[in-house]
Amino acid sequence: MNYKEIKSRDDYMPFIRDESAKILFDICQKEKPKNILEIGTAVGYSALLMLEGAKDAFITTIEKDNERAQQAMTNFEKNGVKERVDLIVGDAGEVLPQLEDEGKEFDLIFLDGPKGQYLRYLPHLKKMLCKGGLLVADNVLLHGWVKGEEFVKHKHRSMVVNLRKFLKALEEDHDFDSKLLEIEDGMTISRKK
Ligand SMILES: C[S@@+](CC[C@H](N)C(=O)[O-])C[C@H]1O[C@@H](n2cnc3c(N)ncnc32)[C@H](O)[C@@H]1O
Repeated sequence: MNYKEIKSRDDYMPFIRDESAKILFDICQKEKPKNILEIGTAVGYSALLMLEGAKDAFITTIEKDNERAQQAMTNFEKNGVKERVDLIVGDAGEVLPQLEDEGKEFDLIFLDGPKGQYLRYLPHLKKMLCKGGLLVADNVLLHGWVKGEEFVKHKHRSMVVNLRKFLKALEEDHDFDSKLLEIEDGMTISRKK
């Protein structure tokens, strides 16, 4: 089963949407990253897509949910890319400082984990991103909530506030050259200068 079939067989998994996926794929083809970090593996769709786009890449990908991680590993095996993947099962909030302590560096980071934590993860990601590398963050507009276009239920408010702070932090950080793509659920692409 290739990565496109994985998506077509599962209606409920929160995969990266099609237009955003195409942009991520094109980035991989153009930038040819060698070391990718992904936060939020789910069942491996976006990781497989990136490995298809960047043929020489190795990916470190973090997933908290054990069952999803097992499915992802099966999908990596079926696609013959097991040797190109380090799948870490754990909470990114704990794993990211460990990777940083190990001195890990990445030339592409795809941030697609818990939306309320993007701001907290940012300093670690910035540190581990190579000069000239790209940080791509998905769902930054979260159903129009972040721009204030839709009513936000109380239970989602802190997540929305944190995403607004994340966008502001990126915009104001002169070490990054960032752009916000207002497509689908919103995506930022930030190059570290
Ligand atoms: C939007 S989905 C990822 C979709 C995937 N990138 C794709 O497009 O195929 C987000 C994933 O992040 C995982 N997640 C949530 N909180 C996490 C955490 N604290 N650490 C690591 N993974 C987490 C969820 O279990 C979920 O599978």
